[in-house]
Amino acid sequence: MTTEGAQEFYGRWATPYDVIARRTPGIQRLRRRVAAACQLEPGDTVVEMGCGTGANLPYLRERVGPEGTVVGIDFTGPVLERAREATAAYDNVHVLRADATTPPLPSSDRSAASDDEASVDDTGRSDVEVAGVDPGPIDAVLATFVVGMLEDPAGAVDDWCEFVRPGGHVVLANAARSDEWYAPPVNAVFRTIVVLSTPPTAKLRYEDDPHLRLDERIDAAHARLRERSVAVADETHVFGVVRLTGGRLPDSE
Ligand SMILES: C[S@@+](CC[C@H](N)C(=O)[O-])C[C@H]1O[C@@H](n2cnc3c(N)ncnc32)[C@H](O)[C@@H]1O
Repeated sequence: MTTEGAQEFYGRWATPYDVIARRTPGIQRLRRRVAAACQLEPGDTVVEMGCGTGANLPYLRERVGPEGTVVGIDFTGPVLERAREATAAYDNVHVLRADATTPPLPSSDRSAASDDEASVDDTGRSDVEVAGVDPGPIDAVLATFVVGMLEDPAGAVDDWCEFVRPGGHVVLANAARSDEWYAPPVNAVFRTIVVLSTPPTAKLRYEDDPHLRLDERIDAAHARLRERSVAVADETHVFGVVRLTGGRLPDSE
């Protein structure tokens, strides 16, 4: 999927997407669960990659409290406007227009941290500002329904792991075909949703079915997160269609 194709698609469909993102039966429960899987403490910093209209942001804010920091990153202007409106009441929730594969975030510099942990943990500050604020060490990165759109999903997961402090968490949630016994009708519905919600410009570029390509990308991203993590929580939700993987990163390398 091209950057322009995705931006045009989500920009044009920001309003209906926002309704689906917030009102689909079971979705609020799922969003609460992904926020919990980030294992945040009050005062922590969490970054959501591809935050869309910001449906996860209030749940992340709930976890980090008024002392914490929530940063939502997305490259589509109109969806970010909605995220901004939806979180206007919080002064510690920031939304930023940027590419999630090259976000302007400070690297946690994990190898340096193992030699000198104080450089990350004790100062608590970095010289990189995000949306006008210094986010400090990043405790968790979350990405829901995003990695299937990336050309190199495993590479993106690698990069996201580098931004998170040692011992922090990366959480992915994605819709992919179900393996459950009732899978055929669920998969048929899922396939229809994927085909309808794939930007037309992207459809022409697929050599195979969009839903198969999406599945491969999601598998690659979740597999890479498992490889990078020292502790993993794998769950399925919403009739087995939504896969959630939460990974805790090593304390040091
Ligand atoms: C299916 S929506 C999911 C939005 C949100 N995470 C949610 O759960 O509702 C995918 C979002 O990812 C964004 N996106 C896709 N690729 C991106 C990239 N490389 N950088 C930033 N945003 C990206 C799109 O603009 C879109 O808002």
